[in-house]
Amino acid sequence: MTDATSKLTLADITATARRGGRLVMVTAYDASAARLADAAGIDIILVGDSAAMTVLGHDSTLPVTMDEMLMMTRAVTRVTRRALVVADMPFGTYQPSDEQAVANAVRFVKDGGADAVKLEGAGRSRSRIRAIRAAGIPVMGHVGLTPQSVALLGGYRAQGRSATDARGIYDGARGLERAGCFAVVLEAIPASIAAHITSALAIPTIGIGAGPSCGGQVLVWHDLLGLTEGHLPRFVKQYASLSATIREALEAYAADVRSGSYPEEKHTYGITEPEADAFAAGLPHKDGR
Ligand code: KIV
Repeated sequence: MTDATSKLTLADITATARRGGRLVMVTAYDASAARLADAAGIDIILVGDSAAMTVLGHDSTLPVTMDEMLMMTRAVTRVTRRALVVADMPFGTYQPSDEQAVANAVRFVKDGGADAVKLEGAGRSRSRIRAIRAAGIPVMGHVGLTPQSVALLGGYRAQGRSATDARGIYDGARGLERAGCFAVVLEAIPASIAAHITSALAIPTIGIGAGPSCGGQVLVWHDLLGLTEGHLPRFVKQYASLSATIREALEAYAADVRSGSYPEEKHTYGITEPEADAFAAGLPHKDGR
């Protein structure tokens, strides 16, 4: 049993799923977000490679590097007390070989403090998953819309809508379970297909654009909180409009600075000796006075 503050283990996550409890996962990429997610009782924090787009300003997830992901993972694990932290393995860090996959997964655990790693795809990824698991590291899988394969998939579009594609995703998810994943993300697939996959697997599915029958849900921090500018996928529910709130606050700050109404007396420090004022008054003036 765990209390509301003790660190969740893989066994706790599995037990929650077996009891029929829905797992709550959200991405976070820095310490302040991780603190808030942890305090809100989120079960799993994903340091997602979506950071390439949300934090680093790229137009796909492909360019983010191992070092960038490690820096963000450390920031998250440094302050997370309860949630399980999963680090997303960036493009190119696990595809080449089992050896590279294990070496980079070990870096996420050893240097980054992550509890588990996530990687995309089925097929060849199964061998990587077996190898990483054999090194003692829990692995989360990810099928459906896998953004690291955006070129192959022909864009960010829903997957598994035809019988052949649905069969491919189902087989992929089964394969990930057999390879030893503790959970699998189903992204942007029809709700009915996700429901069938969920009932066929013993491990929990975590949906993003995969309907309500999954064993849990994940959303990207910036989408959930209204920090994403521009197009949002249809599966996103915004629970706040932080972009507007932040912009209003910044505009108010700028106006106060320009008008001189910030800082006020209460925002300033006083002197402890009158001589300090006399000293300051005697300093040379930039006009030469
Ligand atoms: O990187 C990410 O944010 C993800 C989620 C969308 C599952 O992989």
